[in-house]
Amino acid sequence: MLPPRRLSNADLVAELAADGVETSDDWIVERTGIRARHFVDAGTVASDLAVGAARQAIEAAGCGAEDIDLIIVATSTPDMVFPSTACIVQQKLGIAGCPAFDLQAVCSGFIYALTVADSMIRSGTARRALVIGAEVFSRILDFKDRGTCVLFGDGAGAVVLEASDEPGLLATDLHADGRHVGLLCVPGMVAGGQVLGDPFIKMDGQAVFKLAVGVLEQSARAVLAKAGRTEADIDWLIPHQANIRIMQATARKLKLGMDKVIVTVGEHGNTSAASIPLALHQGVRDGRVKRGDTLLLEGVGGGFTWGAVLLDF
Ligand code: UT7
Repeated sequence: MLPPRRLSNADLVAELAADGVETSDDWIVERTGIRARHFVDAGTVASDLAVGAARQAIEAAGCGAEDIDLIIVATSTPDMVFPSTACIVQQKLGIAGCPAFDLQAVCSGFIYALTVADSMIRSGTARRALVIGAEVFSRILDFKDRGTCVLFGDGAGAVVLEASDEPGLLATDLHADGRHVGLLCVPGMVAGGQVLGDPFIKMDGQAVFKLAVGVLEQSARAVLAKAGRTEADIDWLIPHQANIRIMQATARKLKLGMDKVIVTVGEHGNTSAASIPLALHQGVRDGRVKRGDTLLLEGVGGGFTWGAVLLDF
């Protein structure tokens, strides 16, 4: 689920130029692969996008909202400080009673949320989990900082995970390293009715880039080893969509052709926790990802957090 307002690089370059911020379509495409992104309008919040994605996922799963018994929303841009976006989604879906909570692991959020939902299903706590990644990153962009504002977009994606005797999620791998908190952060907070500190994204792009390429390879190898599979078993790599060059480097290290990678960063930009389910949605809808395919999903982002999920679709 993407908000309807699409901004091409040319649109964004023109808007930024009006504020004296210099960038270009060439720079953005060459350094990132991004050609466009979608931004919400003033009245739209993360739960609006999340509910749209949730409805599509519930329909695709062939069940009803009332059959969902767990809701996890991965987001760093919730509607409110509290209650959780997951509770707001639950209310908008017209259901009540099942546990619902947000999970905050920035761009790795969807991988973390899938892993938590999988654990809760395996332990018998849930049977049918709605797992959503939803972001309105346009709200936390500093449009005076050309190093970050050209990179991100808004969107949401969702899946329904069901208890089954058939193998689905084969292996998961999660990590964090809090020594890198300052590399990618929004350091502000709310207190006394005021925003304290800086409410916009700060990123050391080069440092994040180098760390991302290293940990994505490690995590891919870890899930493959846990599942007793090899790179040759991967039908589709569906990575977090931050930068085409990170995806190319990861694919190269895993000896996968780019024809095995679902890439949506060109049209979506970086939608943080929403990027992996949005890319999965794209792959399924255009017929590339088929039932029974082995998928490697990978995320990396602020925290520093990273992880991977290997699954038979
Ligand atoms: O989702 C969470 C994970 N996030 C990521 O994975 C992001 C990882 N990092 C990246 O994708 C890349 O580091 C960036 C796309 C953010 C930046 O690309 P880069 O090739 O690392 O560029 P850079 O930061 O080294 O900047 C190169 C030059 C600088 O100019 P000087 O110092 O060489 O004169 C920047 O000031 O490009 C300049 N620059 C820009 N120029 C035009 C930075 N942003 C822009 C811009 N337009 N938007």
